Amino acid sequence: MLVTIEGIDGTGKSTLIEGLKTELADLNPVFTREPGSSWIGGAVRRGIKEEINPIAEALLFVADHAVHVNTVIRPALREKKLVISDRYSDSRYVYQSKTLKGYIADPVKWLKDMQSEWTVVPDITFLLVLPVEESLRRINAERESTEHFESDGVLREVQENYMKLTEEEPKRFVIVDAKKDKEEILKFVASVIRSKIV
Ligand code: TYD
Repeated sequence: MLVTIEGIDGTGKSTLIEGLKTELADLNPVFTREPGSSWIGGAVRRGIKEEINPIAEALLFVADHAVHVNTVIRPALREKKLVISDRYSDSRYVYQSKTLKGYIADPVKWLKDMQSEWTVVPDITFLLVLPVEESLRRINAERESTEHFESDGVLREVQENYMKLTEEEPKRFVIVDAKKDKEEILKFVASVIRSKIV
């Protein structure tokens, strides 16, 4: 089963995932992420930092996804493992919709078409939702420098894009109120995952 965790920056994805490592330890899940840990993931991070160009950046994210699907996701699913990914394709649909504006007429269609023949669609996606002001407050408190994605305007639009995706696929998405206590969020997410496994 493929589970993905999504949300704008600063919503507590990393904390949730750390918690799931302990909470779901008996299920022996494979924890993974996008951008991934291969050298392409490194190239993506470099592309973001250097603000190369929106098209090149989007294509690097897709390249990273292809490697991730082939080397991590499919092999683990073949072994019937539970796979939990910190970000996945929805990140591309919502962030690159913003960055590709003015370059590509319909970025989500462009991105979906590019990967439709080889990707794996998640069984369940948890979307952590937090007001943008609160997410920015958390980002600024935690980090010295921010990426070009982490501004008020970008995150507001990205959050709206996420909400549109949940309307299109209400069955796949579980919306989580990220203002809630982190233990409560952890227990809730873990229990939904367990309920889908049996
Ligand atoms: P990452 O380094 O994983 O940051 P975080 O810890 O905040 O998740 O991801 C870097 C940024 O890349 C993040 O702001 C979201 C963005 N992103 C995209 O724009 N497109 C994508 O396809 C993915 C996977 C991430």
